Amino acid sequence: MSLDPRIIVALDLAEGREALALADRLDPGACRLKVGLELFTASGPAIVTALRDRGFDVFLDLKYHDIPNTVARACARAAELGVWMVNVHALGGPRMLAAARKAVPPTTLLIGVTILTSHDSAELAVLGLGDAAARVQSLAHLCAAEGLDGVVCSPQEAALLRTRHARPFRLVTPGIRPSGSETQDQRRIATGREALAAGADYLVIGRPITAAARPHEALAACRADIGETG
Ligand code: C5P
Repeated sequence: MSLDPRIIVALDLAEGREALALADRLDPGACRLKVGLELFTASGPAIVTALRDRGFDVFLDLKYHDIPNTVARACARAAELGVWMVNVHALGGPRMLAAARKAVPPTTLLIGVTILTSHDSAELAVLGLGDAAARVQSLAHLCAAEGLDGVVCSPQEAALLRTRHARPFRLVTPGIRPSGSETQDQRRIATGREALAAGADYLVIGRPITAAARPHEALAACRADIGETG
């Protein structure tokens, strides 16, 4: 059993029942689980509690972005649920990040989202956000300055961010695909091994595991790719 599994399986599913059935095919010593907007909206805090009761660390991926007081209070409720990791949008600004930091005890990791990888440069221009790489760096810097525990970033951004932010600042990377597997709608992908080599700490992997006929075996293959054994 691994004490600090690197892989976070994204439970992007519509129903709590489905999510629990999938969780029951996975091992809490081999992965962590991510609950996002769809599953949380459908199933609420009960799904987090049920996953925790099964021994899983839960990353509550709700990307809070609101006024500082509202975000701080939501973060506090998330921490009370016993989640392992929670995140907020760095674009909420320094006061929002500081309020979130104050509300989240050190037992829960507080992570910033910099620029969503779904934005292309045309969209960033419309939003007045300019160059993606520069913005990701400045927002990661802001997260570090406000005492956040790390950021979500693409594997391509991880290498540069790691040169600027030493551990324990965490880099959490989605967009992971085992070599030769389907990319689906992800564009800027890397294998788990490449992402870790670039400086990532945790790998968010969804469909390559959740859509597999045998999720447990798909997870084992992803773990083997990063040299994490059983
Ligand atoms: O199925 P797949 O491996 O593409 O799932 C990746 C997960 O990571 C999804 O839950 C997606 O919302 C999330 N994510 C992402 N890119 C980001 C931030 C989060 O793919 N920039």
